[in-house]
Amino acid sequence: AATTRYEAEQAACDGTIDSNHAGFSGTGFCNAANAVGSGVTFTVNAASAGAATLTFRHANGGTAGRPADIVVNGSTTQAAGAFDPTGAWTTWVSKSVTANLNAGSNTVRLSPTTANGLANIDYLEV
Ligand code: GCU
Repeated sequence: AATTRYEAEQAACDGTIDSNHAGFSGTGFCNAANAVGSGVTFTVNAASAGAATLTFRHANGGTAGRPADIVVNGSTTQAAGAFDPTGAWTTWVSKSVTANLNAGSNTVRLSPTTANGLANIDYLEV
């Protein structure tokens, strides 16, 4: 099925929408504050209930991983999912996970589990 792209600049970002690291899609990316639980929430639509592929495009120019819980409709579907260093803040990488969605509107949140916070997040495709 076709995917829909949900830009982070249109999601609820617990930080700033920045555009200082080239290579992002749309007009910017979410730079969430560097703290546990400071994340981003996307509202996504699914035509039907069931397993869906969630693809997060991100960049982590730091030297440490920035794990984040992947929380779908309030339930953690993957604890401390890896968002490992990508080598540079301008190197954007896609990470895909599978999760069950409801028909219609869903929330997908990335909630970082370490004080370094989230990687920079460009978009979610579903
Ligand atoms: C740098 C970088 C930001 C990034 C931040 C971080 O300041 O420019 O884009 O979000 O590091 O470590 O989170």
